[in-house]
Amino acid sequence: MCGIVAYLGEKEAQPLLLEGLRRLEYRGYDSSGMAVLNGGGLHVLKKVGRIQALAAAAEITPLHGSLGISHTRWATHGEPSDRNAHPHVDATGKLALVHNGVIENYASLKKRLITEGHTFTSDTDTEVLAHLIGDHFQKLPANTPSRLERAVMAALREVQGTYGIAVIHQDEPGVLVGARRGSPLVLGIGVGEHFLASDVSAVVAYTQKAVYLNDYDIVTIDRNGFRVSSLTKQSAGFEISAIDFHQADADKGEFPHYMLKEIFEQPQAIQNAIRGRLSHEDSTAVLGGLNMDAKELRGIDRILVTACGTALHAGIVGEHLIESIAQIPVETDFASEFRYRNCPIDRRTLVFVVSQSGETADTLGALREARRKGFRVLGICNNVGSTIARESDGGVYMHAGPEIGVAATKSFTSQVTIFALLALLFGRMRYLSASQGREIIENIEKLPTLIGQVLSQSERIKAIANKYAKSSSMLYFGRLYQYGVALEGALKMKEITYIHAEGYPAAELKHGIIALIDKNTPSVFICPQDSVHDKNMSTIQEIKARKGPIIALATEGDTSVEAIADDVIWLPKAVDYIMPVISSIPLQLLSYYTAVALNRDVDKPRNLAKSVTVE
Ligand code: F6R
Repeated sequence: MCGIVAYLGEKEAQPLLLEGLRRLEYRGYDSSGMAVLNGGGLHVLKKVGRIQALAAAAEITPLHGSLGISHTRWATHGEPSDRNAHPHVDATGKLALVHNGVIENYASLKKRLITEGHTFTSDTDTEVLAHLIGDHFQKLPANTPSRLERAVMAALREVQGTYGIAVIHQDEPGVLVGARRGSPLVLGIGVGEHFLASDVSAVVAYTQKAVYLNDYDIVTIDRNGFRVSSLTKQSAGFEISAIDFHQADADKGEFPHYMLKEIFEQPQAIQNAIRGRLSHEDSTAVLGGLNMDAKELRGIDRILVTACGTALHAGIVGEHLIESIAQIPVETDFASEFRYRNCPIDRRTLVFVVSQSGETADTLGALREARRKGFRVLGICNNVGSTIARESDGGVYMHAGPEIGVAATKSFTSQVTIFALLALLFGRMRYLSASQGREIIENIEKLPTLIGQVLSQSERIKAIANKYAKSSSMLYFGRLYQYGVALEGALKMKEITYIHAEGYPAAELKHGIIALIDKNTPSVFICPQDSVHDKNMSTIQEIKARKGPIIALATEGDTSVEAIADDVIWLPKAVDYIMPVISSIPLQLLSYYTAVALNRDVDKPRNLAKSVTVE
């Protein structure tokens, strides 16, 4: 979703802004733009399409100056076009603003401003905010100290909705103002220079120090430093945090796409998720970040997991893990539903929100709704310092490293691994003996090696992907632990290949889906040797009887599956509760190689945003 990069320092802003925008490309966008201030005034450049188009325009008309703001837009109000791209300027043409979020009362503000003589040139809510701030600026006497900051504050008091903004004004040429409510904004602190950005990946090449701004914070940067004030409080505190990854972590390295790199990073990502969290001595998991003592954890008798997309699929696998291993009832729900339905939660319910980015608007809304009701909410997040991580009562960091590919991969397997740790922890407080706990630990510790074994089949998976790439529809089937994996496999396929794909619990076939089976509709069947293997074999027979091609994921040496499936991807032998972490990986590769065969933009699929920061 939209990305902001702003710079105030001693260097030329333009190349830093363009590089920052490239670093934010993964968030998803349809147009981009920048505004730079120098002695000659404010210069704005905007282009629909890829950042390359903006860079090409900037090569012809370079914007010189050491103060600038820039933006990648993901359209909400108004189609993608040069006109609707950010930055937007005010009525005087001296103020420029970039904005992430949605100004909900923009229509009434616009109406009022029009009656006061303002004219608008775009269809966006953002342009209204630029005019509103500009209007307040004009009304303040020219010698008002912190005039731009005051104008921003006055305007934001009139605004309903969400925003992360960066603003500059020609009459305050050494000042950059940022503010946030509901949309992320980070201040990067360099040597003699400062940055504002939607996330740290835009600034990590220049600094390892950041301030993660809170809702209602206003940050004012000038040549002497910065200060943080608050729209709602007398004074705002801030904390300077160390950015927990380096530029190299966010580069593609030798891989052609981020997605492939991140798929291959999974042995390491899973190692990071379990490092220091398994106690052989106590045969349990150690998760200090939950901020709950043993008595409090023992008091939980229901768990609710809420998230979106891939993170919800990880929660669905997590439901099986916790229910089977710890015998605690677990419910999963779309965060977008949970936040608006009146879900009964009693005092012994623990709520988990799961989010790679930690910024997903629906998941954040669900977290806030649960906390407003007084419940304890724990987060499972990847991005350290993200809003969800900060607003949770505690939680578990994934430590998977930056995930840049729009399609989530390593975050899914890390989330499932963390649910396995939680299942172990809760299980050891209830029914599991020390030896059972030890056995679970030993199995979890095998994961990095077992993942390495599935990854070594990538050439075989590529050949299968090429064979089926022309399909217009695909079905994914799995049962119990593999149901969430089937959902996730189908989501990956549709996201990056645009092939229609659906995931189902295998036995649902007979209840309607069987009507879709024909010789052109492949079924991806996740069928490891587990407690429902025989049931799955019957379902595979039913598909074959109707000439449906079968791509099976089967345990090594399973000749019964090999005899009937058209193609087999082998899974190493593993217990059922760790198998989802392993079996999801061939499905990521299958989608990846299919997308490559179809010449799709793997890391930036159409219409998608990595971090969905609006509702
Ligand atoms: C799928 C995907 C999305 C995200 C969803 C939640 O590949 O990336 O479905 O999983 O938007 O995102 P986070 O985990 O950042 O809250």
